[in-house]
Amino acid sequence: MSMNAKIDQIRSEAAQAFEKAGSVKDLYETKVQFLGKQGSFSALMKEMGKLSAEEKPLFGKLVNEAKQSLEALYSEREEKLRTQELEAKLQSEHLDLTLPGPQRPPGAKHPISSVIEEISGILGRLGYAVRTGPLIEKDSFNFEGLNMPKDHPARDMQDTFYIDDNYVLRTHTSPIQVHAMFNEKPPFKITGVGPVFRVDYDISHLPNFHQIEGFCVDRKVSMADLKGTITFFVREFFGSNLKTRFRPSFFPFTEPSAEVDCQCPICSGKGCRMCKESGWVEIGGCGLTHPNVLKFAGINTNDWQAFAFGFGIERMAIIKYGIDDIRLFNENDVRFLRQFSL
Ligand code: DAH
Repeated sequence: MSMNAKIDQIRSEAAQAFEKAGSVKDLYETKVQFLGKQGSFSALMKEMGKLSAEEKPLFGKLVNEAKQSLEALYSEREEKLRTQELEAKLQSEHLDLTLPGPQRPPGAKHPISSVIEEISGILGRLGYAVRTGPLIEKDSFNFEGLNMPKDHPARDMQDTFYIDDNYVLRTHTSPIQVHAMFNEKPPFKITGVGPVFRVDYDISHLPNFHQIEGFCVDRKVSMADLKGTITFFVREFFGSNLKTRFRPSFFPFTEPSAEVDCQCPICSGKGCRMCKESGWVEIGGCGLTHPNVLKFAGINTNDWQAFAFGFGIERMAIIKYGIDDIRLFNENDVRFLRQFSL
């Protein structure tokens, strides 16, 4: 076969192969096969040596023309395939804009925040103003001002995170009482709310939990005022028909002191797992403020008296909602938290 005939043959083979290529990728591979460095035309050029000096330029010219026409064919075909591929892609990715979008469930308050708001609301109606205090607390406010001098055995009641000799993570909200005595002029009623910290972690204890404190300073306050206040509070929070009972107890900052139980709201006092079949659940402590506490803050105990109470918020939430593991409050599992959203 003459060299010219070979050029024509390769050209028509290439043109057919381009036409047959089903995708841009196939087409490109075909192009490499014919027009690439190792392709058919390059192979043909190697045979040029066989030609006479006169034939060579003509042959070179014909090869170039053939290659140029194939390049043009390639571009045309590539454009066509590209359009086809784009259309196929658009077809397969067709969006139905009438479908509803993904649902985003609305957020909800953490149950502890809801309980804090509810309790502050109830005490607010009795005239208690909400106060907070530092979480890193002076030893003197967390303990000394509450009649627990250094080395007092009552400090062992609260496993404490010590920052250094003078500072602790507050172990209870009672130091808010001390801040109030320095900041407010008697008579006053305040409630202190917020996180507290103890070295503790099991099914009924967290290292960080929340308390609420009530503190009432007035000319004359009695155990009857304290009982009336707490009874009102328990009925508002847990249910109007529940009884409250006070058991004699000890706290360094109150004298007399009592622990407060309320009839179990889960079984209405009949006995269940929550109240360990006793019908009663413990919610916190209370008492008439010890004169040493008032004196520490410079309050004249001839003129003023006080009562105080402190409850665990998680404990109250557990009792109210019948939750059996306090750690659920800290795990932030939305399946748990969602149950408390409205
Ligand atoms: N601060 C006490 C505690 O965390 C609870 C408490 C008891 C607070 C008696 C009071 C109170 O205000 O009067 O264990």
